[in-house]
Amino acid sequence: MSDQQNPQPEKEGVYLRQIRSFVKREGRLTKGQARAIEANWPSMGLSVDNGMLDFSQVFGRQAPVVLEIGFGMGKSLVEMAAAEPDKDFIGIEVHRPGIGACLADAEAAGIKNLRVFEHDAVEVLAQCIPDASLARMQLYFPDPWHKSRHHKRRIVQPEFAQKVRQKLAIGGVWHMATDWENYAEHMLEVMSQAEGYKNQSASQDYVPRPDFRPLTKFEQRGHRLGHGVWDLMFERIA
Ligand SMILES: C[S@@+](CC[C@H](N)C(=O)[O-])C[C@H]1O[C@@H](n2cnc3c(N)ncnc32)[C@H](O)[C@@H]1O
Repeated sequence: MSDQQNPQPEKEGVYLRQIRSFVKREGRLTKGQARAIEANWPSMGLSVDNGMLDFSQVFGRQAPVVLEIGFGMGKSLVEMAAAEPDKDFIGIEVHRPGIGACLADAEAAGIKNLRVFEHDAVEVLAQCIPDASLARMQLYFPDPWHKSRHHKRRIVQPEFAQKVRQKLAIGGVWHMATDWENYAEHMLEVMSQAEGYKNQSASQDYVPRPDFRPLTKFEQRGHRLGHGVWDLMFERIA
């Protein structure tokens, strides 16, 4: 649904267009992606219409929960879920071919500890994720919105940092990575000023890529283009 079809009333007679961190691309589904969605959505798909989640009900056990926003084609998310079977993973993506690719990979890997939403992560956080419930939040290579006039669309903003903090357990970590230096600096600035977080970097800036994060497609491309990659890890302390 476009923003214009779904105006947000601010007060009577005044409608604001909500600023979103993505533009919905109507990419075509491959046959394989369509099949993977049909076959796996019943067991792995989550819907905002079902409201607040009870993780132990969703996964049938109690385990630390990791949430990833904007998993793209889901390759690294599936790898991580397979590599950490003691944790449960929830991925959120708005790009339908990405949902299909992720479910196809998850099926091939035979993993049972992954669920996905096809929806705006900002709304999923607010409507479906209990407060203080997440062990880790992952945001890898978010859309950088290069032009200054688009910077307001970047998902990492002071207000969003507090929405994430609300959902992390105390001691939970928000892990970000980007290959766009200006966005890395923006993330560091926002997070250094955000209340209730501690930077896990000894030098109070970036951390080396932790072993649990595989190289993503975007990152491999970044390496080929000679870009750097910046990882940031901030722990919820209050
Ligand atoms: C540049 S891609 C990176 C994908 C992947 N993380 C990787 O590293 O390969 C950013 C992704 O975030 C998704 N995205 C952006 N804003 C989002 C939001 N508010 N909710 C869910 N997904 C979002 C986009 O659809 C896109 O697939």
